[in-house]
Formats: sequence, structure tokens, C-alpha cells
Amino acid sequence: MKFKQYIIENLEIIDAGAEGKAVAKHDGLTVFVEGAVPGDIVDALVFKKKKNYANARCQRIVTPSPYRVEPCCKHFGTCGGCKWQMLDYQQQLFYKQKQVIDNFQHLGHFDFPAPQPILASEKQYGYRNKLEYTFTHQRWLSIEDMQAQQEGKEIEIRGLGFHVPSRFDKVLGINECHLQPEPSNRLRRAVQDFAIQHDIPFQNLRNHEGLLRNLIIRMSSTGEMMVILVATDYNEQVIGLLDFIAEQFPEITSLQYVINQKLNDSISDLEFHTYKGKDFMMERMGDLDFKVGPASFYQTNSQQAYRLYSVAKEFAAVSADDVVYDLYTGTGTIANFLARDAKKVVGIEYVESAIEDAKVNSEINHIENTEFYAGDMAKVLTADFIRMHGMPDIVVTDPPRNGMHPDVVDQLLLASPKRIVYVSCNPATQARDLTLLTERYNILKIQPVDMFPHTQHVENVVLLELK
Ligand SMILES: C[S@@+](CC[C@H](N)C(=O)[O-])C[C@H]1O[C@@H](n2cnc3c(N)ncnc32)[C@H](O)[C@@H]1O
Repeated sequence: MKFKQYIIENLEIIDAGAEGKAVAKHDGLTVFVEGAVPGDIVDALVFKKKKNYANARCQRIVTPSPYRVEPCCKHFGTCGGCKWQMLDYQQQLFYKQKQVIDNFQHLGHFDFPAPQPILASEKQYGYRNKLEYTFTHQRWLSIEDMQAQQEGKEIEIRGLGFHVPSRFDKVLGINECHLQPEPSNRLRRAVQDFAIQHDIPFQNLRNHEGLLRNLIIRMSSTGEMMVILVATDYNEQVIGLLDFIAEQFPEITSLQYVINQKLNDSISDLEFHTYKGKDFMMERMGDLDFKVGPASFYQTNSQQAYRLYSVAKEFAAVSADDVVYDLYTGTGTIANFLARDAKKVVGIEYVESAIEDAKVNSEINHIENTEFYAGDMAKVLTADFIRMHGMPDIVVTDPPRNGMHPDVVDQLLLASPKRIVYVSCNPATQARDLTLLTERYNILKIQPVDMFPHTQHVENVVLLELK
């Protein structure tokens, strides 16, 4: 039987739950309400109902929350990013901190001290150093666009923007994004206008026809700028566009292109061609330089990354005779950040090219006491590996969202370093892993960090000490 949607009137939003969803209680159900913030009283349309919970959409705000603010982005509500823009920043921080505590209380089985107050991001806009846009031959139309079409007006339907949430084939054309400083918007608009004027085919995301696929803009804290154009072919039209970009934006220090004829958008396995300038850009963090290639991962909020790593460094409290392991090292940023204080640092990471970058980063900073190994953590971090490379005195671990493999946790328990610093972007999986680690460790400190304002994401650093 088809579910019949219904409205709950005067529903009070009492919390922000997992993934930033606004939470209310009604008739014994937990109701997750899209488009609402804590403190709102709303009429909500329930579109899905299960035994214990329901999903709803805000139909009308009856009384706005005192914490509601006007979103600054005109794409708010359609674009998948920055979903918390309508919530006051101090409240965003409050709920991020709460997210850590709730996860630890509900999913963890351990004692823990009160987390230190979350470190706010100094920049709430313009904080991202990398944005990736997608070309589409037929963009997602707004209500205004559809009205204009109905009135017989001609509108431009080609676009360059972001994917609509969970739609691989739908892209919202972006006119202004507040996540990256200028000239990011100017560049994207200029590229789009030039491509339209010169009739360069935008890709059709369904049948994979068309020439232009993606535009990636990276800006470093040293003032350098890398632009990568992804197309299905390298021809006169692409050359014309690259020439135009190079001419109009002399501030670009690295202009590259990639030919991607695959069905998916991943380009890290493809060849990057330098059209103008260098084939990398430089980042600086503290007193370290980092060489960032077009395929290299680098934390997207550079300023907060420095604060995050500084917390990790303070918690790790490395001294000259310590052997440190940096698990999930990426391009070795944390490893290099700690190396000058340590006897040696061993970094392990899945992606081989990242390990190559990590080695280069040690080299350019004249750091000689790091070693990097590529491979799956659960396979690399074995008793033999530890015997060969030295017992770790301190381990820093920064796994992906799904946390650590149980075998990795077992190895850590066996190796029993005196301190473990656990950096996580997902407090739920962190709570799961900490439950295992607290067999032999006490949790001494917890420091949440906000890397991504206006999203529900929270980064969390935990210091564990051997019992
Ligand atoms: C959250 S990032 C941390 C990166 C790094 N610490 C930094 O701050 O730049 C997680 C890293 O784990 C790596 N990774 C994911 N699964 C892995 C696995 N099974 N074994 C080893 N590394 C893995 C990813 O490639 C990614 O670089």
C-alpha cells in the first residue's frame, strides 16, 4: 500500500542529530525534518514513516528559531553543500560539540573527560582551497527558470556547477559560491561564458557525450593557483579555452588539463598535462613547505588543518628518542609535522602516489628521519612490520570515515605505544574503535575542531594514554 503523506502541525525542533538533521519528537516517533533548525516550530510534511522514526520536510515555519539566520548563498536549499547556513555559527559549533559527546555516550563503552571547547574556523566562508565543478549540457532548473520557460523566454540551459545531492546526472549551475575566495567565481563564470559563446560541447552526463567535463580550482596559502580542465579530448576547442584561461587569469601558476574518456569522474589514475606554468603548487604550513601535485590530497581548509595538526602535535608530545607511527598518513603532512621532534616517523598509507608525495615533502623540508610505506593498513601493519621498523612509542592515526579495521586496532593493542592520538572525521566510528582501545588505554583529552563551517561535519582529536 502506498504511504499517505501527512502534516504534523506546530512541531518543535529540539535537536540536531546525526548528519545535521533537525530532530523533533511526535507520538513516540523521532522525526527528522529537512529545512528546519533547532528552536524552530514548524508544520512538517511526513513523507516516510518507519517503526521508530519518520522523515519529514518543513512546509511552513510557524515560529522561527532565535538561532535562524539568513543564508548568504542564493543557491542555498538546492545545492548540496553548506546545509547549515541558516543556523547561527555559534549554534553550529554547539551541535558539532554535542555530536561528539552524543556519539561517545551512545556508541562508546568507556569513560571520557569533557571535551575541550571546539576550535572554531576563523574563516566561515572562503575557507576551501579546492573546488571541483562539473559541466553539464542541461543544468538543474530552478522554479524561476521553469516559469521563464513557460512564459516562452529563452534560457541558457548549459551550466557549470555542483552535483545536486545524490544525483549523478544532475548538476546545479553555480553563479556564485562563497567557499573559495576570488578569482574563483570570476574564473568559473568566464570559462562557462567562453565555452557557451564558442559552442564548445558541455558533457551529457547520461550518455557521456560532449567535450567539457570538469573544472578544478585549487588555491594555496602561498598565493599560488592551480586550474585543471578535464575534457574527453584534446582538440582546437580545448586549446582555445586553455589559451583564454591563461590569458585572462595570469595569476594561475599551474594550468593543467586531463583527458578523461572513462565513464567515471576520477582522474587520479590519468595523466596530467601542464599547459602553462608549473606542474605543482606549493603550500606552507607552519615552517614546512608542501609540494601539492594535481592528484595530491591536501586538507581543504588549510588554516584549520594547521590548527588540527597543532593539536595532534601537542597531544603526541613527541620527544627526541620517540619512534612515531603516522597511520593513514596521506601525503605525510602529520608525519613531517612531527618528524623534527622525533627519533623517526613511519608513515603508512594506501595510495601509492600520496606516499611518493610524502617522500618529496620530507626531502624539500630536509627531513631525513621519515619512512613511508604504501599498502592497505590491515595488511602492512603486522607484528613483522613493527619488528622490522621499531616498536612505536607514539602512534597518530587519522583513518577515513569508516574508521580502523579491527586487525589494525588489535595491532595497536599488541604494540601498546605509550600514547595514541586518534584524529577522526567521524565520531561514530571513532567511538566504536575507542571502545576496543580503552581495554588498555585511558582517554585523557578530547578536542573537536571545525574544519567545515555550514556543514554538519566535525573533526575530533582524542589523546589516549596506556593504562
Ligand atoms: C582522513 S585521510 C588522512 C590523511 C592525512 N593524515 C592528512 O591529514 O592529510 C585518510 C587517509 O587514509 C587513507 N586510507 C584509506 N583506507 C586505507 C587503508 N585501508 N589503508 C591505508 N590507508 C588508507 C586514504 O587514502 C587517506 O589518505
